[in-house]
Amino acid sequence: MNFELIQQAFPLLLLGAGVTIEITAVSVAIGLIIGLIIGILRIGQIRVLRIIATIYADCIRGTPLLVQIFLIYFALPMISGHRVDPFLAAVTACGINSGAYVSEIIRAGIQSIDIGQMEAGRSLGLTWWQTMYHIILPQALRNILPPLGNEFIAMLKDSSLVSVIGFEELTRRGQLIIAQTYGSFEIWLTVAFLYLVMTLAISRLVSFLERRK
Ligand code: ARG
Repeated sequence: MNFELIQQAFPLLLLGAGVTIEITAVSVAIGLIIGLIIGILRIGQIRVLRIIATIYADCIRGTPLLVQIFLIYFALPMISGHRVDPFLAAVTACGINSGAYVSEIIRAGIQSIDIGQMEAGRSLGLTWWQTMYHIILPQALRNILPPLGNEFIAMLKDSSLVSVIGFEELTRRGQLIIAQTYGSFEIWLTVAFLYLVMTLAISRLVSFLERRK
């Protein structure tokens, strides 16, 4: 085991870890917005929107994230004629993907609230949207937070897939350092350790937030 190599590579890998956190945070933020909309549409009263939202969630969850990344980075430029920036491609692919998973979390969270809550709101004269916003969503949030934390962790690990388009996050940095130093064992071990530290930190943060609410 070459400790000197680890010592030299560590600062570079740490930078990569920062980039990984960045892609993950942006992707989950995009996913949260998409997921909230799609999730509500999936249980909404408008049939066309319900169908569209369901097709979105099915298509995205039914195809590999890796293929979606390839589609956005390599196939999209062929029809649009413009090169896609790797960071933009990475967060778009991961964000669209995360949106489908978040929509499922939102849908399940809302459906976990007793139907009587909606009926009570409606009978008080609130509209469907008012009841959803003021009564259902605040209660659903409690059930949504833990799986949302899991999605964050899953996305952090799955963001390693964007290394295939050459975007320099943690995994790609590892590959590049190994290409120069041949230190597979040391570098992959350090990469794994950094992922572990990040996922543990997120899960601790989520349980802290859960206990506080
Ligand atoms: N592993 C699955 C895939 O390749 C899911 C990837 C996305 N993960 C996520 N948490 N949004 O499609």
